[in-house]
Amino acid sequence: MIYAKNITKTFGDLQVLKGIDLEIPTGKLYSIVGPSGAGKTTLLQILGTLSNPDSGELLIKDESVFKLGEKQLAAFRNREIGFVFQFHYLLPEFNALENVCLPALIAKKGKKETEERAKELLDFLGLSQRLTHKPSELSGGERQRVAVARALINKPAVIMADEPSGNLDSKNRDDLHDLFFKLRDEFNQTLVIVTHDENFARQSDRIIRMRDGRIEE
Ligand SMILES: Nc1ncnc2c1ncn2[C@@H]1O[C@H](COP(=O)(O)OP(=O)(O)O)[C@@H](O)[C@H]1O
Ligand SMILES: [Mg+2]
Repeated sequence: MIYAKNITKTFGDLQVLKGIDLEIPTGKLYSIVGPSGAGKTTLLQILGTLSNPDSGELLIKDESVFKLGEKQLAAFRNREIGFVFQFHYLLPEFNALENVCLPALIAKKGKKETEERAKELLDFLGLSQRLTHKPSELSGGERQRVAVARALINKPAVIMADEPSGNLDSKNRDDLHDLFFKLRDEFNQTLVIVTHDENFARQSDRIIRMRDGRIEE
């Protein structure tokens, strides 16, 4: 599903990624762990096509993504990659249902089918009673589940999450982690998740340990 070869990235005179090689198969949940500053977020942003590497190659679904033009790349990202961040980044003036629908409406999908899928997803995530709640009317765990539904709306090839449970209490953290495994097991969803949670990482299909811009084996 994802093939990365010799990815490097430098900020100023700091080389943050020193040649990353990585292959992530379909239907697997890979975790990325490592100390703060190791380059985890930088790597995930590049794998998610949000940021360009200085060198290297990235294939997602056999598409050489950095060879796409700007517009094509934005469309590819919208369609194929679902993001979940540490902070939910839901739009405060829109309710849960509207937030989940946004990426599909950006992809010019029909309103009716989009709302149906959004409702199904929110139902699957245990939020069918929260459709018209605004983010400020939801708990932290509920907000992150809405963010997961938003990430899933376009049936992306891969979900990428950067410390998605970093702001949750232990109950909501465990629920969110269970949800990621459920997405893998029930939908064959591919996931790449940066985490500080060793217990969660140990349950994943592979732990990618980063240190100082490299993957440790
Ligand atoms: N946009 C940026 N400009 C300059 N330095 C950056 C930028 N983004 C990250 N860095 C630096 O790159 C290093 C790795 O950061 P990051 O990928 O966020 O690490 P991690 O997520 O593992 O904590 C850090 O030293 C950080 O300060
Ligand atoms: Mg980080």
